[in-house]
Amino acid sequence: MTKLAATSLLILAVVLLINGVQSVKQSVKAPAPAPSDKFPGKKPRVGVKSGHSHVYKMFVFGDSFADNGNLPRWCSSPITRQWHYPYGASSLAANSLRPTGRFSDHLVQPDILATMLNMGRLEGPPACKMTLKNYCNAFGMNFAVGGSGVFEPFLPPLPHRLKLTTLAAQIDQFEKLLHDRVIGSWNLEDSIALVAISGNDYTRVANASSNEIFAFVKNVTTEIAANVKRLQDLGINKILVNNLHPLGCTPWQARPSNYTKCAGLPNVGSSVHNTDLLDKLGGMENVKIVDLNTAFSKIVGEQPPGSGSELAKRFKYTLRPCCESSDPDGFCGEWGEDEHDRLYTLCKDPSKHFYWDDVHPTQAGWQAVMDQLKVEIQEFLDVF
Ligand SMILES: *[C@@H]1O[C@H](CO)[C@@H](O)[C@H](O)[C@H]1NC(C)=O
Ligand SMILES: *[C@@H]1O[C@H](CO)[C@@H](O)[C@H](O)[C@H]1NC(C)=O
Ligand SMILES: *[C@@H]1O[C@H](CO)[C@@H](O)[C@H](O)[C@H]1NC(C)=O
Repeated sequence: MTKLAATSLLILAVVLLINGVQSVKQSVKAPAPAPSDKFPGKKPRVGVKSGHSHVYKMFVFGDSFADNGNLPRWCSSPITRQWHYPYGASSLAANSLRPTGRFSDHLVQPDILATMLNMGRLEGPPACKMTLKNYCNAFGMNFAVGGSGVFEPFLPPLPHRLKLTTLAAQIDQFEKLLHDRVIGSWNLEDSIALVAISGNDYTRVANASSNEIFAFVKNVTTEIAANVKRLQDLGINKILVNNLHPLGCTPWQARPSNYTKCAGLPNVGSSVHNTDLLDKLGGMENVKIVDLNTAFSKIVGEQPPGSGSELAKRFKYTLRPCCESSDPDGFCGEWGEDEHDRLYTLCKDPSKHFYWDDVHPTQAGWQAVMDQLKVEIQEFLDVF
């Protein structure tokens, strides 16, 4: 990896947290149904097998790929944009647009995961921030916070002195709830965790040499493995750990080519990270790496002529985001001085785009990614 790669990785990281966008056309179709419980009044039963039924509890850790409302609902800024229009634009609850604090037009990865586990609901466990104190939802809890990494990210000053957490701090929070018996040990029977660490740490090595970056990748993956071990020690049964998606194929990286190609070097960075992660987690029992890299690449990566995957055909636009800031340093949902001054454009149909904003997939994008991983995840979790 070169210095350029470093910079790219870095910027990517910043973007994960701080996207930008600009002027607007606004009609957004709402293809997605509002989430609701599939089996109201019934216990979520999963994987009923030879008389034994699992009632999975899901605990979610990580960054904006998994966050469903843990950041504060402040006025619009790069890190709080997910609480403002057009975020959540595809969720029509009670006929009103309702941003839910997710970095997407509607649902994100843990929501799709919950559906594929037949958890009896159409979204993942609630954000810790949104639950009552001393109350653990029957489905589990989500501790993920947009912008987080395994180390404190290197960031421009955040609004309102907002402090981001780290993966370890999220697990501290989980451990405290265990200790206080808000989450009882019975909650950990048939428990699963999702760990979504998507590259924010690499903001720290923006200006580093390639050797330093390689060394730092090792630090990041070591830290991920240590946190996974800790979750096991705390009693989580099965753990899903995302690998790194192809960072060079994010709209933010593809923008200079008018969304016609991925940037090569950040993708090399992702591969190095993933090889290292496999090294460290490959031998751990009851841990599965969720290969986002392959699943994303089948859709957004360059396809050899004639091999265009069926999945890629679901999307008219694979690299061009639905919501695009006019300024590459701006963010989706950004407004100018007055109320008619929208600094972003919005597509008509988010389901035709793989990417929602400059780094995050649409709900349709997440669905297409998770559809590819469904069988192996269900096998790993013993769900059918
Ligand atoms: C990298 O260099 C740029 C320009 O000199 C500087 O603004 C930025 O803070 C540096 N980033 C890190 C992580 O040191
Ligand atoms: C990685 O970890 C080693 C050992 O803890 C430390 O000495 C080094 O400074 C770290 N490297 C970076 C780039 O953070
Ligand atoms: C970028 O691509 C779009 C859609 O293909 C096209 O309409 C637009 O003119 C292109 N912009 C530039 C600057 O080439």
